[in-house]
Amino acid sequence: MNAQKVDIDTAVTVRDLSVNYPTDKGILNAVSLVSLNIYSGEILGIVGESGSGKTTVAQGILGLLENDVISGEIDVIGTNVLKAKGSVMRKLRRNYVATILQDPLGSLNPVRTIRSQLRESAAATGTPRGKRDEAIGEVLLDVGLTDSRVLRSYPHQLSGGMNQRVSIAMALLKNPKILIADEPTSALDVRTQAAIMKLLLDIRARRGTSIMMVTHDLELALGSCDRVGVMYAGRLVEIGAPEHLRNNAKHPYTKALLGASPRFGQSERVTPIPGRFTSVLNHPPGCPFRSRCANAIESCAEEFPPASEDLTAYWCWKPVPGGENSQQGATA
Ligand SMILES: Nc1ncnc2c1ncn2[C@@H]1O[C@H](COP(=O)(O)OP(=O)(O)OP(=O)(O)O)[C@@H](O)[C@H]1O
Ligand SMILES: [Mg+2]
Repeated sequence: MNAQKVDIDTAVTVRDLSVNYPTDKGILNAVSLVSLNIYSGEILGIVGESGSGKTTVAQGILGLLENDVISGEIDVIGTNVLKAKGSVMRKLRRNYVATILQDPLGSLNPVRTIRSQLRESAAATGTPRGKRDEAIGEVLLDVGLTDSRVLRSYPHQLSGGMNQRVSIAMALLKNPKILIADEPTSALDVRTQAAIMKLLLDIRARRGTSIMMVTHDLELALGSCDRVGVMYAGRLVEIGAPEHLRNNAKHPYTKALLGASPRFGQSERVTPIPGRFTSVLNHPPGCPFRSRCANAIESCAEEFPPASEDLTAYWCWKPVPGGENSQQGATA
């Protein structure tokens, strides 16, 4: 455990989070025993391929999952999410925790102007009527939308990047302590992606907001986040600072992801990860990555590897050799 980190305020604590959905084929293990912290004012990236459980972790933190599918402990700025009443969670979501989603159009109303939607959001956070337009002007400035035409526009009249800025402005009206951004840049072109990422960094710098940034894009996460967690098949397989992951990744999946990434591939050629992930049903024995893993040994098929010593991330029966921390887990 990194001793420095334990003294820093923690905005979100997740311990042994599991989410299991009953399906026709059995119990789908969407998330298994995930433990992580989001420290105050940090940007934590969560990466992993489709179906690895990223959104499910975010939904858990937001208190959006039914009690019969979720277990473990989640604390969000002092609220015990799994035990809190609906009214307490609604208050938390209304005033302290905001979300930004992949498709801004999905969270905007197509038949109402941006002004009317921002006014409604300002009202929902309890801003007095006479102060709402001022608050809206401030958040629009914060997200770089200074053209007054934006307020008169309908969402379809704006570009994808502008709509994403509007939805970020809407989130900022709460002055949230925590921002959960689920693939906020995935639907945008590369230049706009970079601009939105920069905006999130600015928001964190100005407001000290803690941000959980869910993305498929390892390069984006390593280039922008303070720490990055890697998920595979519902498990958090590694978590740490970008330099730690780049130089010292211990889980073969993290290593494979780095090798498959054009910028961080260690050979000149990018090496795609063979096979593909399919969902995990009924807690099968062994490591779910083994069929795609170049390092797999016999034990990998028999039993899931033990947790790392500090119980915060999961190891592997045959971690990537090298590095000074080869016997220790990542710091969550
Ligand atoms: N309500 C549900 N009922 C049953 N299965 C679900 C439900 N919600 C999610 N799942 C399953 O849980 C697993 C994890 O889903 P999740 O949406 O968290 O993945 P993700 O990492 O966010 O993927 P993506 O990158 O595609 O958004 C997937 O197999 C998904 O099909
Ligand atoms: Mg998702």
